Amino acid sequence: MTAVATQEIPLVDLKAQYATIRDEVRAAIDDVLESMQLTIGPNVKAFDQEFASYIGTKHSIGVGSGTDALQLAIRACGVSSGDEVITVSHTFFATVEAILYANARPILVEVDEKTMLIDPAAVAAAITPRTKAIIPVHLYGRAVDLKPLKQIAQDRNITIIEDAAQAHGALLDDGKKAGSGGRVNCFSFYCSKNLGAYGEAGSITTNDDRLAEELRALREHGQSTRYYHPVIGYNARLDEIQAAILRIKLRKLEEWNARRRALARMYDQRLAGSGVIVPEIPSDIRRHVFYTYTIRVPGGRRDDLRKYLGERGIGTQIHYPVPIHLQQSAEFLGYRKGDMPITEKVASEVLSLPMFAELTEQQLERVADSVRAFMKGN
Ligand SMILES: Cc1ncc(COP(=O)(O)O)c(C=O)c1O
Repeated sequence: MTAVATQEIPLVDLKAQYATIRDEVRAAIDDVLESMQLTIGPNVKAFDQEFASYIGTKHSIGVGSGTDALQLAIRACGVSSGDEVITVSHTFFATVEAILYANARPILVEVDEKTMLIDPAAVAAAITPRTKAIIPVHLYGRAVDLKPLKQIAQDRNITIIEDAAQAHGALLDDGKKAGSGGRVNCFSFYCSKNLGAYGEAGSITTNDDRLAEELRALREHGQSTRYYHPVIGYNARLDEIQAAILRIKLRKLEEWNARRRALARMYDQRLAGSGVIVPEIPSDIRRHVFYTYTIRVPGGRRDDLRKYLGERGIGTQIHYPVPIHLQQSAEFLGYRKGDMPITEKVASEVLSLPMFAELTEQQLERVADSVRAFMKGN
């Protein structure tokens, strides 16, 4: 094997991205340290404005993580003990954790097999008089169609809270950005995300002035002015260093997303006819930002393919191997294996391949060739 052929190809190469912005990032961190204004200062205020303007909402409230964003959003929407919140079982655990933090009951529903996103018919079937909110998750970077969900929610006083943690810049069915369609919407800036901090960070976007004010208080111990606490809040602040880094990265996001889309198209071409199921590209590709490029491997061969790629230095991940309804900690919710056949099938077949804006065509070809070789039985 040549040296190039043995080079590792990680799932996400954060070092490759850092190399393109190193000077700007170091200068920005230096400025924050020189100012010693470390929390809710000029960078957080500026980032809140810049991110709101990018998403197209009146407000963005920077918080400590995507999980904070969900927790505060759910609380601000008045969800509490006894309420039901509908979301998918095929998501990252935090979506459901945040519902449980509010002592509400998560009602987990099926995904559509083609898109692997929330199935509106399953949502409609799960509505009860206790349904308080619906949380569509724009999984893998593909925006959920909000129109059918809004039709279900309207007239029933049900709130829609988008979990846009994986979909920075994806377009909704109304042509606006994901994170602008719910009453409040949540983003994660976890380091591997399309817009990722160099630590923990998140944001809540909304057009509702009153909620925005409440959320700004909730992120800082519920205080209205310093040391006056009309409500009990959280320590969910975004810090200045992360905000300064996010401001730099936000300016590159559109370019990085465009590159991810180009890479997705290349993968599609190179994997056609290989026997794996490639992710469906929406007719308007701008509805997807390919946080992950997640294929499905039928015939029980997923884990062997993963091992095969791993042996060749190719990083992969399973998003997600155990649906929430089958997680050990969720046993008390009373779900059983077989309750969500589509979700369970998808979870046994999905495999995410390397995807990041700096991935080269040569690297992508090596990944695709290796997938093809395995599927052919090599
Ligand atoms: C769909 C989804 N929801 C919520 C979260 C939670 O975000 P964080 O890890 O920033 O708390 C994540 C990310 O990690 C996610 O992917």
